Amino acid sequence: IPVASFDGVVFGATGDLTMRKLLPALYYRFRDRQIPEASRIIAAARSRHSDEEFRGMAAEALRRHVPAADLSAETVEGFLAHVTYVAVDGAGENGWDDLTALLDERPDQIRSYYLATSPSLYGAICRNLSEHGLIGERSRVVLEKPIGHDLASARAINDQVGRVFPETQIFRIDHYLGKETVQNLLALRFANTIFERLWNADVIDHVQITVAETVGVEGRGGYYDTSGALRDMLQNHMLQLLCLIAMESPLSLDADAVRDEKLKVLRALKPIPAHEVPHCTVRGQYVAGAVDGKPVPGYLTDLGGEARSHTETFVALKLELMTPRWAGVPFYLRTGKRLPQKMSEIVVQFRSSPFSIFPAGSFGREPNRLVIRLQPQEGIRLEVMTKEPGPGGMRLRATGLDISFEETFNQRYPDAYERLLMDVVRGNATLFMRRDEVEAAWAWADGLLQTWAESPEPPRPYAAGTWGPTAAIALIERDGRTWHEDL
Ligand code: BG6
Repeated sequence: IPVASFDGVVFGATGDLTMRKLLPALYYRFRDRQIPEASRIIAAARSRHSDEEFRGMAAEALRRHVPAADLSAETVEGFLAHVTYVAVDGAGENGWDDLTALLDERPDQIRSYYLATSPSLYGAICRNLSEHGLIGERSRVVLEKPIGHDLASARAINDQVGRVFPETQIFRIDHYLGKETVQNLLALRFANTIFERLWNADVIDHVQITVAETVGVEGRGGYYDTSGALRDMLQNHMLQLLCLIAMESPLSLDADAVRDEKLKVLRALKPIPAHEVPHCTVRGQYVAGAVDGKPVPGYLTDLGGEARSHTETFVALKLELMTPRWAGVPFYLRTGKRLPQKMSEIVVQFRSSPFSIFPAGSFGREPNRLVIRLQPQEGIRLEVMTKEPGPGGMRLRATGLDISFEETFNQRYPDAYERLLMDVVRGNATLFMRRDEVEAAWAWADGLLQTWAESPEPPRPYAAGTWGPTAAIALIERDGRTWHEDL
């Protein structure tokens, strides 16, 4: 279904995010005929380029980031005809008259301003948009994460943007919320009565959330070294996943109904006091090792050789929620770069029965687990105990009741940005973060960051291609539990 006609201005248009994610996402939406004829993608950045030059760069980006089977010369050409380039200094003065003239050609279009720049420029760009009269009722601004690097800087950015855009026109993007399987969490929890009744501390032993990546910092060292795994992945993507797992049922799917419930989860995060930080958290940094059988250098080499850095490329931690539903249930979260496989999953492990008619020992007895695979091989598996076939007596084995989304639906999974960019045009903010959510997440993360910053201990080294420092395994095994491994 086509959306309304729009002018999508992308600041930071020559950057990595635009090339790797935004242009491919818009290309797919064009290919699937969702982008109306009069819509324009207005690429804005400081360097000077003609439309033709920028279209050449965009075509190259599509060749690199879209599978060849999905590209046809005719469709690429049709898409690029919607793309215009304008040189604008977002935080300065140059180029704004050109951008204004361009937008004035089509005053009735929906306007979305996508800020794919450093967050330190968000305030200045918004001020410029306002001073040039470019904000109206049909305008929206999209802010990429990270919004600041702590609570104070996030508040400052939110204040600056909030001075010119009302909250309903601000779309803070967390692309994890646009992933199909993440949206599926809402369906799983609130469209199925069987799970919801079991979804509490009486029945659930603990929850694990793993977001593992094989990549290193990939030329983003400048940004990453000021950020680290907690700010880059955990404070946003992983806490959002936690919200969807832990929240109460929203009253509807309206943006504020969903966000009100997520906010309650974030506010219920139990602060980790400084003296418990060494016990409940593990920081790691990769050193040289091998991923997928190929040798790879360590983090410090990736940063450029001589560097010394205490930035964590891995974090594992245990947290708790102070709510009646979850009191006493630990949530174990871990994420890192240069781990053995790219894999994101949530494991809900149910309590074991206090009594069993099946003797322990040689008979396998495993707790039930619900494994939600976010990527790759998206799907849901309920691990249940079954009898091994054969005359050997009552031998039990954990087997999976599987739903593979790929096999069930047999269609391409759109990238998260495709859905989210169209939601911006539609004005649907359900899958975007509200100001108070972002700030509540920072308020919790700040305590941890501060304790780490004051600690003389560097992150623990782990070889690239392993599951992080051994202390991360000890973190969960100390509680008599283990990180989930595939059956
Ligand atoms: C981004 C982080 O938000 O998410 C990156 O800044 C990370 O460091 C990426 O690699 C992971 O996203 P995905 O969709 O590949 O899991």
